[in-house]
Amino acid sequence: MDMLIKKMTNTIKTLFAEERGILAMDESNPTCNQRFIELGIPVTEENRRAWRELILTTPDLHHAIGGVILFDETVYQQQHHGASFLQLLRENNILFGIKVDKGMQSLALHPLEQMTSGLDGLRARLNTYAGLGAVFTKWRAAVSITASLPTLACIEANADALARFAALSQEAGLVPIVEPEVMMTGTHNLDRCREVTTQFLRAVFRHLNQQEVVLEAMILKPNMILPGADCPMQEDIDTITNTTITCMLETVPAAVPVIAFLSGGQSGDLASARLNAMNLRDSRIASTSDDLKNLKQTLPWQLAFSFSRAIQFPALQLWGGVHEHKKAVQDAIYRRVCDNQRARRGVYQQLLEPSIDRAITGVQKQ
Ligand code: 13P
Repeated sequence: MDMLIKKMTNTIKTLFAEERGILAMDESNPTCNQRFIELGIPVTEENRRAWRELILTTPDLHHAIGGVILFDETVYQQQHHGASFLQLLRENNILFGIKVDKGMQSLALHPLEQMTSGLDGLRARLNTYAGLGAVFTKWRAAVSITASLPTLACIEANADALARFAALSQEAGLVPIVEPEVMMTGTHNLDRCREVTTQFLRAVFRHLNQQEVVLEAMILKPNMILPGADCPMQEDIDTITNTTITCMLETVPAAVPVIAFLSGGQSGDLASARLNAMNLRDSRIASTSDDLKNLKQTLPWQLAFSFSRAIQFPALQLWGGVHEHKKAVQDAIYRRVCDNQRARRGVYQQLLEPSIDRAITGVQKQ
């Protein structure tokens, strides 16, 4: 196991070196199709392939992206001239990981809640993906907030499945991205999001510890602490970043090397601005307080990104299924990934005027 742990910690270092991050493009076919339908893009396997080819052939993507998360279908797809996507990633020194959960099913006896499935047969699937060159994996468990939800049953069942996934993934030498998401949909306020996220993260780490998952060899992919999208009170960036960092400090052990946030339906611009503010706060701590500097240079974990919608959505709108838009689309993707790399460095300048980036997709994921 020592060799595997070393391999996994090296994978994490490579993924996030030079403030690079992860581009999530692992939407299941139903989720990808639903986004196409919203934008009037014909739903075909060829269009899903073409969209993924556009993303992966973005010139210089590797400057800001250390790894991409793929969906099973994409692993076996090829560029239009026949070379495989995996070969293209190898040539560009971009690592690849794979979503291994099988989506959410309704939770028994709790018809309003869901639980992520996919543990059956997972060990064999992990070995197949490792053989194809994958070095990391992802499992997403999402809970919704209402006045009475989530229930303890939902939190515990999802935390248990996340931990069992992470243990199997580490056994195969693949870095698990553990993604407990508290969704942004709803009218709840910031405090309620913080309360539920705290409860969920505490349960997740309790189960990870029970399964003896090596925390140094995993990546946590949580939500930022945000008010519900329909809450009338939308807090400013400082309040959101302070609340998010406080919640992480209270729940995430220092042994975890990286917190790579999901974007969760935030606009590209806001997701970058909030990540930037968190990293800026981090560098302010390091540069202004000698005591803290001596105690610990910065926050215990790197704060990074593993965004899907906040990177893809503005570009997908521009594309609209029209191949002649390739240059504009790839420019938009490149701009967003570089913006997020700047946000990791605390030097991102937020857009001042409303832009296409501000659109929020309401599409739910599976
Ligand atoms: P969002 O950034 O759109 O929330 O998606 C992240 C993700 O979970 C995909 O793996």
